Order: sequence, then structure tokens, then C-alpha cells
Amino acid sequence: MDKKALEALLKDMTIEEKVMQLVQIPGSEYEADAEITGVERGQVKDNVKRLAGSTLGIWGAKRLRKIQEQYMKEHPHHIPLMFMLDVIHGHKTVLPCPLGQGAAFDPEAVRKGAEMQAREAAADGVHATFSPMADLCRDARWGRIMESTGEDKLLNSRMAAAMVEGYQGKDRKDPEHIAACVKHFAAYGAAEGGRDYNNTELSEHTLREHYLRSYGEAIKKDPAMVMTSFNSINGIPATGSTFLMKKILREEFGFQGVLISDWGAVGEMINHGYAEDMKDAALKGMLAGVDIDMCSGCYSTHLEELVNTGAVSVEMLDAAVLRVLNMKNDLGLFEDPYRGCNAETGPVITEEGRQLAREAVAASLVLLENKDKTLPLRKDKIAFIGPFADTKRLQSAWAFSGEDENTVTVWEAASEIYAPENRKVAAGCTMMDQDAVTARGICHVENWQQENDRLLAEAVRTAEWADTVVLCLGEDSTQSGEATSKASLKLPAVQRDLLRAIRKTGKKIVTLIFTGRPLELEEVRDLSDALMICWLPGTEGGHGVMDILTGKCAPSGRLPVSFPYTVGQEPLHYDVYPTGRPKPVNGPFEYTSRYLDCENGALYPFGYGLSYTDFAYSDPKLSAQKMTDAETITASITVRNTGDRRGGVTVQLYIRDVTGSRVRPVRELADFKKITLDPGTEETVSFTIKEEMLRFWTAGEKWASEPGKFLVWICNDSNDGQPLEFQLVKAKGE
Ligand code: BGC
Repeated sequence: MDKKALEALLKDMTIEEKVMQLVQIPGSEYEADAEITGVERGQVKDNVKRLAGSTLGIWGAKRLRKIQEQYMKEHPHHIPLMFMLDVIHGHKTVLPCPLGQGAAFDPEAVRKGAEMQAREAAADGVHATFSPMADLCRDARWGRIMESTGEDKLLNSRMAAAMVEGYQGKDRKDPEHIAACVKHFAAYGAAEGGRDYNNTELSEHTLREHYLRSYGEAIKKDPAMVMTSFNSINGIPATGSTFLMKKILREEFGFQGVLISDWGAVGEMINHGYAEDMKDAALKGMLAGVDIDMCSGCYSTHLEELVNTGAVSVEMLDAAVLRVLNMKNDLGLFEDPYRGCNAETGPVITEEGRQLAREAVAASLVLLENKDKTLPLRKDKIAFIGPFADTKRLQSAWAFSGEDENTVTVWEAASEIYAPENRKVAAGCTMMDQDAVTARGICHVENWQQENDRLLAEAVRTAEWADTVVLCLGEDSTQSGEATSKASLKLPAVQRDLLRAIRKTGKKIVTLIFTGRPLELEEVRDLSDALMICWLPGTEGGHGVMDILTGKCAPSGRLPVSFPYTVGQEPLHYDVYPTGRPKPVNGPFEYTSRYLDCENGALYPFGYGLSYTDFAYSDPKLSAQKMTDAETITASITVRNTGDRRGGVTVQLYIRDVTGSRVRPVRELADFKKITLDPGTEETVSFTIKEEMLRFWTAGEKWASEPGKFLVWICNDSNDGQPLEFQLVKAKGE
């Protein structure tokens, strides 16, 4: 439909019809078994169901086609209904959870993965996904850290931008792509105490420099939608914040698409104590520029009245409705409301998709310890022990459209490799402690103690038979994701007991940790010979893990987030601001900034990860010691594989602005490059340092670089390397 026709359509619509384009209702209104991801708000009235512009949480080519047919027949202007779904890390073929994808440090792989997710979701009738989540996360207590790509703004920016490109493709009309939604705007990851939905208190410069960056970079890729966040920021709920939505999102970021609230967030402004009632909440949502009210019922019950009394102008209403109609038009829904989706053929999991997922798993695994070259596994007798050894629950709580039955377990993958006489499996213990609280309620197991005694005895016998134990531990997938904040980052006690008992057998232990968040792993490190983080790896989890364990693929993942010694260090991130009393390297430590009972830094820092081979780094070089705004400096290093295996390494560039009108972080990731080297070969990795990489939100309240000294590291992780120096010099008037 052309622009004129779209405007003519808008003109012809009644106020009620217009308002309803701004209303999203749960898919359960159309199909009882739809996925509910929020609190139900009660019955949706018939007129809302007939006219609501979009719905969510429902998929399936056949059923969506049926709903669309019926809906369009009844809609006075036959405007198609839009179907949205949380396709977060896979629709049918499930990739590693976003935190795992972050660990691969490979935006192009993430783009391809998003493309596959879009293809599968589109074939199931879905028009838009609520992804990427670009929230910066520095707190492992916050369960939604699993849905992010980690603690670093540059890594997150590249990953979120790649996801938008992958989901949407070049042409949004292409029926193999879907619309993307950058969420949760803004700073949802900074919730106080890591408690989900909580207030965040952030200075404007921290907000701008750190928290807003990845949304901004993703928005440059023109996503169809942005979603507001549940939290308040500096006392104002994000969903009602004109500063965030108007000044930053629309004016500064130039976002032209549809702004949707998070589930019920317009109505939640009442609980926040920011809106008096539903009518006031609807008004505040509209005034902040929220186009679609997801499931709070405030717009559907009060917006028409607000327009009729003039509290919300018709122009404001029309502008919002036009954005929604434009989105439908961009998706090609007016020409084909089914987007080529054939009721007979839903998406299928293809061999190609599985291969992509398998490679994504292998690339996401982070090897943290490998004492005495325990890995790769030798052709020994191997026992696969632990609650994750043979479970299909390898995807996160945000992969509800993917079926567990398609998942390959570690044990299943191992069975394709090892002869029956060389492998055994034992669960060892229950997944969780008795009465553990999950997002879905309390997990109570009848005869829990007897069951665990039996499982432990069996596991010890199995370990005694083996040469090497692959111990598969972790956090259940219902313990990360939304509403899963935790004050402890320890593995369940029952799993720690299992580890200690297996250690007593004296066998080599390769511990695999399946998790959606960083955990406390000091004891696990001490009791294991090798240690690897496997995240929540998805459909091809077992295969990808075995590809690394056997050495078929080289481990190359790097931590996208710091792993603490103890939960008391949270929030924990490498790019901290310096203090007036930094802790010296060699003491004396008294009256310096430190914990008395713990290191300041992480047990395993951001960017850390091992390989099976060794790499030698040459001395890093800078092409010049000075640059002006118009010039660039090349920073380079030569990496040589000195071991006897092929291996991958992610070379990281960090920069520090030594003195500024505002204090600058002790170092910040400025670029990275992943390379793979055969034994005996080397490669020179170069980075270009440009003035724009040195900008920050200055004391003059603007984005600018300032002249002076900068430090540069080219290294292996955020805690590694010796810095070089250069000066940024400003010509007069700059
Ligand atoms: C979550 C969003 C999600 C939405 C729709 C909310 O509870 O915060 O991330 O996209 O539900 O399912």
C-alpha cells in the first residue's frame, strides 16, 4: 500500500478503531493454550478482541491463519492482525541462550543465527519477535542476565545490531524475515540489588555512556519496534518517561518505528505510584509516546475517552496509529496478511539449522581450567555424571516455542562417539535442592533424600569404574530468565555434595557448568581438573559440547561477563571507575579501596577463556604516539600458535582515557577480533583507533573526546597485558 492509501485508510477509521490499533492482547484470547508471559489482566471485551491491532505469545501456521481469516472478516477496514512472539534464541532450532552467544564474540554468527530464527518463526505465522534484549547487565543476581549478551557495551552493541539485521534482513516484506524489537528501554539491567522489576538509580553520564549505548547502536539498524522497560529510572517509570522516550529515543536516536510497552507496564505505573488510576496511566503512556499498550488494558478502556475530552490530541493518536499501520505495511501484511505462510507447512528443523546451532554451541563454550591438559578427552573409560548429563532441558525459559524432545543431550552425543563398554551415565543427584524456588513455583520431590542417597551411591560406583568423569552440573533453566533474581550464586547444595563425593574417588574430573548466569565456582575450580562453562546451549547442546570435549573443535569462547568469587562482589564488571585510593598491586593495602575478605576483581574476568593450544603474543605496537581528531592510529600485535593443535583466540583492544573532565573507566573494550590459527602459524591483528572511539559524555554534557593521554592494551582478557600510550592532540578550535 502506498503512503497516500495508508493515510486515506487512517482518515476513514473511527476513533475506536484507531485506539484499538494501539492495543495488544494476549494470544490466549484467541487460543486457550497460548504462552502467557505476564500477569493476566482479566477478560478482554468482545469489541477489543475484534479490533485489537496485535496479539502475542501464539504461533503455528495453521492456527494463526485461521485466526487471521476470522479477524479480517470481522474488522471494519479488514486491517490485518499482527502476531508477535518472544523468539529469543530459537523458534524450533534453539541456539545457545544470548549470554552464550555473547561468549562467542562473533557478531556475524549471531546475525546468521537470528536469520534462522526469523525463517522458522515466519514459517509459523509470526510477524515480529521481542528481541534483541540490549540491556547491559553487571549483576549476576538478576536472572535476566541470561537474556543479554553480557556486561560490556561494545560487545552488546555489536550483538544487538547483528540480531536486528538477522531478524529483519534487507527487506522487511521478505516473508522469511520478521520485525525486530529492541528491548527493554532503558537500563532494565541495572535493577537495584539485582531484583527484577526494581528501581534503577543512574547518573545521566553512566546512563548515556554505558547503559544506553547498545540500544542506540541496535536502533541504527532500523528495528521495527522498541519496547519500554518495567523499571523506574531516577524515580520515573521508564514507560512514562518523556526524557527517555521523547528526548533520547525519538529525538537523539531518531527512532521512527513503533514503541511498545512491556507486558502490563502502562498499568504498572499505578503500582509505581506514578499514575493515579488506569485512565491516568493511559494518559501518561501516551504523553511519553508509547504507541502500543501490551496487555494492561489501559488504552483499550480509557484512550478513546482521553481523545474525546481533548486530553490526548487526535494528532497524537493519529501519529501513533500511523506508525503501527506503517509497520504492518512494511511487513507486506496489506498485500498478504499471511505473508506466504502456508497452513500445511510449518517450520521444520533442518540439518542445516542443526549444523548452525551445533557450531554456535561449540563457539560459545568457555574453557576456564585445563590442568595437565586433561582435555581433550582421551579414549578412556568415561563416566557422564550429574543432572545435566542426560537431560533434554538444555534451553532457557525463553525458548518456549522450541520442543525439548528435539534436544540432543550430552549423553546421547557421547553415545554416538564412544563404544558402550567405554561409557556410562548416572544422574548423581536431583537437579535442585529440595523445595528450591523457581520462576514456576516450588520444586518439591517426594522421598527426595532417599532418591538422592540412591543416585549418589550409583554415581560413585560409576565414577570408580571410569578413568575420567565428565561431571555435568548447573542451574536449572527455570532459575534464570524473568523473575528469577537470586541472592546466592552457588550451585545447589546437592550438586556440590556430588562433586565432593566424586573427587574422593580420585578420578579425573571435567566439570561442565550449564547456566544462564555467572556462578560462584571457586570450590568447583579447586576440585576439578578441567572446567568449562556451557551456558544453556539449546537443541544441539550435546553435540556442540562433545565436539569441544573430544577436540573435534577448538574451544574459543570468552566470558562475556565476570564470574565472581562471591555474590557479595555483585554488581561486578571490569570497566569500573577509578578511585582516589586504588588498591596497589603489592601492598600496603590498608586504607585502600578493597574488600578485607576477598579480591576486588573477578575469579574469572570478562574476556577470559582458554584454548587447547598455546599462543605467543609479540610486543604490541602503535603506529604513532600522537593523533589529531582527523588522524587514526593502528594498534597491532602478532599472535603465534606455538602449540600442536589448531586454536581460536579473541584478541581484545582496550583503551583508557587517563584524565578527563569526568573520571573515565579503568579500561574499556574498544574492539576485538577472533582468529583461528594452525600450529606453527601466526597472524598480525590490527585495530584502527579513531577519535570517535575516544568520546564520552563530558562534564560539558556533550559527546566529545578530550585531548590528553590514553592507554591501550591489546590482550587476552580485561585483566591482562601491559599498556602502551598515545596522546590525542586537538587543533585550535576543536
Ligand atoms: C518480558 C518481555 C517480553 C514480554 C512479552 C515480558 O514479561 O519482560 O521481555 O517480551 O513479556 O512476552
